[in-house]
Amino acid sequence: MTTHHVIGVLALFVSASIYAQDSGGIPQNQVKEKNAFVSHLMKEMTLDEKIGQLNLVSVGPDYTKEAIMADVRAGKVGGMFNTVTKPDIRRIQDQVQYSRLKIPLFYAYDVVHGQRTVFPISLGLAASWDLNAVATSARISAEETAADGLNMTFSPMVDITRDPRWGRVSEGFGEDTYLTSRMGAEMVKAYQNGDPSAPGSIMANVKHYALYGAVEGGRDYNTVDMSLTRMFNDYMPSYQAALAAGAGGVMVALNSVNGIPATSNVWLLQDILRKQWHFNGLTVSDHGAIGGLVKHGVAQDDRQAAMMALKAGVDMDMADNMYGKYLKGLLKDGLVTQQEIDRSVRHVLDAKWDMGLFADAYRHLGPASSDPADTNAESRLHRQQAREVARTSLVLLKNDKDTLPLQKKGTIALIGPLADSQRDIMGSWSAAGVAKQAVTVLKGMQDAIGDKATLLYERGANVTDDKDIVDYLNTYEQQVVPDKRTPQQMIDDAVKIADKSDVVVAVVGEAQGMAHEASSRSDISIPESQRNLLKALKATGKPLVIVLMNGRPLTLNWEAENADAMLETWFSGTEGGNAIADVLFGDYNPSGKLPMTFPRSVGQIPLYNSVLNTGRPFNPKKPEKYTSRYFDITNGPLYPFGFGLSYTQFSVSDITLSSTTLNAKGQLTASVMVKNTGKRAGATIVQLYLQDVTASISRPVKELKNFEKVELAPGEEKRVSFPIDEKQLRFYNTQLKWASEPGKFNVFIGLDSQDVQQSSFLLE
Ligand code: NOJ
Repeated sequence: MTTHHVIGVLALFVSASIYAQDSGGIPQNQVKEKNAFVSHLMKEMTLDEKIGQLNLVSVGPDYTKEAIMADVRAGKVGGMFNTVTKPDIRRIQDQVQYSRLKIPLFYAYDVVHGQRTVFPISLGLAASWDLNAVATSARISAEETAADGLNMTFSPMVDITRDPRWGRVSEGFGEDTYLTSRMGAEMVKAYQNGDPSAPGSIMANVKHYALYGAVEGGRDYNTVDMSLTRMFNDYMPSYQAALAAGAGGVMVALNSVNGIPATSNVWLLQDILRKQWHFNGLTVSDHGAIGGLVKHGVAQDDRQAAMMALKAGVDMDMADNMYGKYLKGLLKDGLVTQQEIDRSVRHVLDAKWDMGLFADAYRHLGPASSDPADTNAESRLHRQQAREVARTSLVLLKNDKDTLPLQKKGTIALIGPLADSQRDIMGSWSAAGVAKQAVTVLKGMQDAIGDKATLLYERGANVTDDKDIVDYLNTYEQQVVPDKRTPQQMIDDAVKIADKSDVVVAVVGEAQGMAHEASSRSDISIPESQRNLLKALKATGKPLVIVLMNGRPLTLNWEAENADAMLETWFSGTEGGNAIADVLFGDYNPSGKLPMTFPRSVGQIPLYNSVLNTGRPFNPKKPEKYTSRYFDITNGPLYPFGFGLSYTQFSVSDITLSSTTLNAKGQLTASVMVKNTGKRAGATIVQLYLQDVTASISRPVKELKNFEKVELAPGEEKRVSFPIDEKQLRFYNTQLKWASEPGKFNVFIGLDSQDVQQSSFLLE
């Protein structure tokens, strides 16, 4: 094949891109051309070149940019991640022309909640229950990512997370299967926008398949072991939904599933993903996961690990070059087949076709003349949209005596280690976001009040005074900088300004690095240094508003009891401080709802909404001894799933059912009148839950099945209707057959998962 060959082949196969599909997926009308093109190209490729395509690399201490460039010229690299500016990417892609077949690389990055403009962390996005907000954040993320020359994001993370000890709950959409599925699918569609090769589009690589969110004890990378019915009813649908939305890629999880690591799991990667779900996109391993098979104890050495991963169906090898080292020898020894290598190579080349890279190796990159003069230029940000999205993610947990909104007058004391931290408000995985461009709560409040009121600020405490934790958080970069003052001096200084003020706003919680990968906690309360600060502030007698900044549910018993008002803000991103100020001062009425249950104590975990009833359910209204409960704590959550207040009040009427029976082909509607009974305009999330009362397996007491955000003027009321059909009543039975079973179903509608109206119908 000549060096012009790829271009020549292309001329034969590329036609005008008409992407008919609206699913956000891969253009179906080009599949034939793609197949023919890829087949032709593969015939021209040597074994080494094929294996090179399976290598997904990143610059690291042992692998310099120069070494990567040499490998690109030698045809040993298929794609790259973590290189994120146009000039840097172009330097690499320029090397492609010196390779024999000139096969372009693709470039990926963890754009989880924004690229340059950072949006709220995914858990915060989920708290919006607002699909438009999620779509906006993902669309802008895609545009900014493409504008940096990248082609793929390792997102969304749709792992169901029911254990807040796991730091990565911050990266997903929480505990609920339905909510996560809707959010993940929306993100995929918004990233890919019907065509991952189009300007401003990127390919979504959904992760971490499968069940990474169910690691035992919430300890990162730990074992996952669960029943098949639990797996298919609760944990698998979110991956399936992201794939149905067209995600071009899948990242394979680091954990094992029922004893077999996902990375070598033929059942997961072949039987379910390919055969049952008909996924024909690209799979990539997670970082170093192939080598990890040895430590998992299923491969005796790296060579065997490479064999097992390829055979299982891991197409690309992220960062450990096991395929590069061993596949050739494995093929020679007959331990892997040419078909197995070709299968994976085809998936890589297909993905590159779908990204438009064969039509234009510089797709998204363009010529050097198109590079931004300043990568971090302010003009490249989408601040307004970030502020709007961030506002929707905030959850009002408590508001006694209308402490909030604050008035823009008098003196306000703003205190806390997170009140003016640009780094922390960005959250984990803040991609190419620049902390210096983040608006802190201090800046947001200051700008909101101008000279109408006095704002006093004190740090008050370090995020933690535990030196070991500080060292841990600072392992790779200085994330946490302890104050030079002693803890007591800091508290004294804070109390001084609190004493002078009309109200105290305390911004407390976690440093962003506490809710990240490798950030499992055994204690999910507010760290002691900050709790001491809060206690001192409480003792001043001033109204205390707690603004929480954190990436997971926390245990907040003291705070819930002692705060006059409490606002959950997650890590709200570049415009977080403005969004928070908007809510604190009532320029925006909060409508966020919790996407995860907040427990009272770590000992209750896992605590989530869609539990099974057990044979001895606990009844809080009639507590009995021999029921499923703890005797040393108030049972149930501190804040339930779906909970969140507003500055106005809403009422929900009894449920009206269009019919009390449903047949397999029919549909009924469950509706309620929702009324804004307060004095302010506001929005709320109306939630529909169902319960299959008696079935062949025990079914959850309440499963979220739909939701709708409604906006109401004071006094206004609206009918909110949810259609229900037989499909929504299906579940995976013990034979893993997805089917409904006739009988009684309870219907619940409310503004959170606990405070609901109830009715029932019969499936015939
Ligand atoms: C490891 C993480 O588990 C995964 O989520 C991420 O996409 C990769 N590293 C690449 O950064």
